[in-house]
Amino acid sequence: MKSSAKVAAGGLAQIPRPLLYYRTWAQAVRTLLARRGAMLANLDAGGRADLATIHTTRGLVPLLMHDATALHLMLCVRAAAAMGGVMAEAGVFMGGSARLICAAKGDTPLHLFDAFETLQQPASGEPAADESEVRRHFGALHARQDQVARLLAGYGGVSFHPGVFPASTQGSEGERFAFVHVDLDLPRGTVDALDFFHPRMVAGGILLIDDYADAAVRRTVQAWFAGRRDTIFVLPWNQVMAIRQGD
Ligand SMILES: C[S@@+](CC[C@H](N)C(=O)[O-])C[C@H]1O[C@@H](n2cnc3c(N)ncnc32)[C@H](O)[C@@H]1O
Repeated sequence: MKSSAKVAAGGLAQIPRPLLYYRTWAQAVRTLLARRGAMLANLDAGGRADLATIHTTRGLVPLLMHDATALHLMLCVRAAAAMGGVMAEAGVFMGGSARLICAAKGDTPLHLFDAFETLQQPASGEPAADESEVRRHFGALHARQDQVARLLAGYGGVSFHPGVFPASTQGSEGERFAFVHVDLDLPRGTVDALDFFHPRMVAGGILLIDDYADAAVRRTVQAWFAGRRDTIFVLPWNQVMAIRQGD
């Protein structure tokens, strides 16, 4: 291809232009953000209210996701609240995303699974492989259940399942889930979460899985869903969403 044709076919985006080139400031800002993979969006009243909740939450605890991801999480929770099952989050840390789930879930019960402080002491004896992996990855960085409970005190129906997943699921085998947020960072934990939650999802239930930009997690999740009938959405950020099809 001739070099002039190359420019016409897509090279223009690479050429920096003076700000005067853009007709409005909004166009200039949108273009500059787009070059960095970010965007502006005008939200309706509901979106603005959710964004306000997201920003209040950021002021209270570190929230390990950006605004679009957080908005999408809240929309999924609101959709799932009408499905009749309970909700869960595997990987809670300081409760930032759990607070967003609480703000959107209405009366639906929410089950929170995290190691919390159960791993703050050194292991006594040789820990099981899954526990060693969590210890290696997170070191001493674990949140405290009482602090998360305080953060979520204004919301009803929240129960805590401290300990290493999936052992911490003991007693939850009979639940049916409409929404699950899996945010465990590690491939093994993610697979354990899929093994536990997927068969217990209601038809149409939403599994929202984080850490999809991590190559090991992505490979593992892709292999797990291969041959299954779920509808898969690879989201344009670090997540994948699966909608459970009925059997
Ligand atoms: C990325 S953080 C969760 C962040 C949280 N969802 C948020 O957005 O604020 C991951 C959490 O999962 C916990 N975790 C990871 N693997 C685990 C396992 N196998 N069992 C229990 N907790 C685990 C870690 O201790 C950590 O608190």
